[in-house]
Amino acid sequence: MSATLIKGKPIAERIRAQVAEDVAAIGHIGLVTVLVGDDPASDVYIRLKHKAAVAAGIDATDLRLPEETTESELLAKVEELDADPQVDAILVQLPLPKQIDEAKVIRALAPAKDVDGFHPINAGQLYLGEPTLVPATPRGVMAMLAEHEVELSGAHAVVIGRSAIVGKPMAHLLLQQNATVTICHSRTKDLARHTLGADVLVAAVGVPGMVTPDMVKPGGVVIDVGINRTDDGIVGDVDPGAADVAGHLTPVPGGVGPMTIACLLENAVRCARYRRGELAYPA
Ligand code: GUN
Repeated sequence: MSATLIKGKPIAERIRAQVAEDVAAIGHIGLVTVLVGDDPASDVYIRLKHKAAVAAGIDATDLRLPEETTESELLAKVEELDADPQVDAILVQLPLPKQIDEAKVIRALAPAKDVDGFHPINAGQLYLGEPTLVPATPRGVMAMLAEHEVELSGAHAVVIGRSAIVGKPMAHLLLQQNATVTICHSRTKDLARHTLGADVLVAAVGVPGMVTPDMVKPGGVVIDVGINRTDDGIVGDVDPGAADVAGHLTPVPGGVGPMTIACLLENAVRCARYRRGELAYPA
């Protein structure tokens, strides 16, 4: 292995310590996470987010609703949280059960309480390059690139995956830093032709080991956003053999995962500042 590992944990710990200071200065930050149903992966994520929030001093409520919750019941709950002055930040864990339209629920969130940055107003602000609530995972990736002083201006960045949670916001953040950005996805022809030219390659597809060493530019920076549960444990979207080719690589686990949680907590602080008028909400 020749690649330098970009570990998320130490960076995340620093961010979480700053969040704890901010929470103490602000006094009270109310975060409500909502999980509908009992999807095991979502349950793990919610537990981790909740534990980290509590450790930072955030007043976190872990709200669980049954699998058969109707769309109107969930919308009513979101509207109640929107109006609650004790609640600064709301997170509705995705995916939602099939009877519920996710887009409708996300639109029902008060944009300034949308700690995930998924509301169309927040997504639009990001697209325009305005400061706003930005999804935690891509923000975490940007913090890791900054920590390792990866030059983005003029670099060719390739993002594999076009989800609203990672791929699209990731591409916009890289573009804001003057990278030349290519977004690849399931219909992309000859994926390796694109990835081999990537100074920075971000894999966010959810397919174990789909980025093989022969797809990586020698010396390139490879960011693995995948968290895939397999019989061999948790593995990323990047084959670990890529470490023999890449200049920098994020490990899985211990790479992007801890950053997502830390940046989510940072977003909760931002929500609290909006609600207190310390920061002007851009909309
Ligand atoms: N499901 C997978 N990732 C996320 C996330 O970052 N936020 C929410 N709310 N749901 C998710």
